[in-house]
Amino acid sequence: MHIDLAGRTALITGSTAGIGLATAEAFARAGARTVLNGRDEARLQAAANKIRTLVSGADLITVAADVSTAEGAQILLDVVPAVDVLVNNTGIFASTPVLEIPDDEWHRFFEVNVISGVRLARNYLPGMAERGFGRIVFVSSETAVDTPLDMVHYGVTKTALLAVARGLAKAAAGTGVTVNSVLPGPTHTEGIEEYITALLPEAGTFDEAQRDFIAQYRPTSLLKRLIRPEEVANLILFASSEQSSATTGAALKVEGGTLTSLVP
Ligand SMILES: NC(=O)c1ccc[n+]([C@@H]2O[C@H](COP(=O)([O-])OP(=O)(O)OC[C@H]3O[C@@H](n4cnc5c(N)ncnc54)[C@H](OP(=O)(O)O)[C@@H]3O)[C@@H](O)[C@H]2O)c1
Repeated sequence: MHIDLAGRTALITGSTAGIGLATAEAFARAGARTVLNGRDEARLQAAANKIRTLVSGADLITVAADVSTAEGAQILLDVVPAVDVLVNNTGIFASTPVLEIPDDEWHRFFEVNVISGVRLARNYLPGMAERGFGRIVFVSSETAVDTPLDMVHYGVTKTALLAVARGLAKAAAGTGVTVNSVLPGPTHTEGIEEYITALLPEAGTFDEAQRDFIAQYRPTSLLKRLIRPEEVANLILFASSEQSSATTGAALKVEGGTLTSLVP
């Protein structure tokens, strides 16, 4: 299958690092005009430069905007009034016992992880429907289905995204616009590296630590290792392609088999 997104514009929020950066690179390779986003101009330029060294002729736009605010969403809309693909990737996580999560932290997690994507979909979906083509992908998590004890607020936001994607897919029925969520498992990003190192300070190398982490905290993993960001990006790219036209309202797993349910 050859995925060609030439002539398409794709916005990937939170694309200065991790899964978002790998996804932006995948879109650039597929020929899309790729919009990178993050809050910091220097980190954005570093991300764009990295992609340019890897993908010759990459067509990139960078937009510094905090997507957890209405002002940030408006900045994106002003710079990029229409997109064909929207990947709502921005997300934060933190390890806090559930009874110690204060109200303002619950609100912050909802603003960053849920409302950001809802707002951008509201801005961009009508134009996609008018043009008869569009792809919206919400980056959820395996924790949407299996709530983690130390990150209940995070898990709740990721569960919410499954319903948001399903609801928007219903709203877009018959228009040529698909809306899906993607559920990664533990993926090798800087954030997860810090999280695992803090969780397992006794482990030797990071490679040993990640295998201990999987063995102790994700024993049902069939992959038995962290997922690579580009492995998640591959599924997001497929869900954003012309070829995925019959996949909508779906929750797509890329969690290394950790979830034991036969369907998400
Ligand atoms: N890593 C995992 O194991 C894993 C597993 C399952 C699901 N996920 C999900 O995958 C997504 C990406 O995770 P990741 O681990 O790749 O993240 P990451 O490495 O921590 O990167 C987060 C990205 O989001 C940006 N960002 C954060 N807050 C933002 C805001 N308010 N406005 C705009 N950009 C913002 C950051 O940019 P700046 O800091 O430069 O602004 C950065 O580019 C998240 O939704 C996460 O929940 C991750």
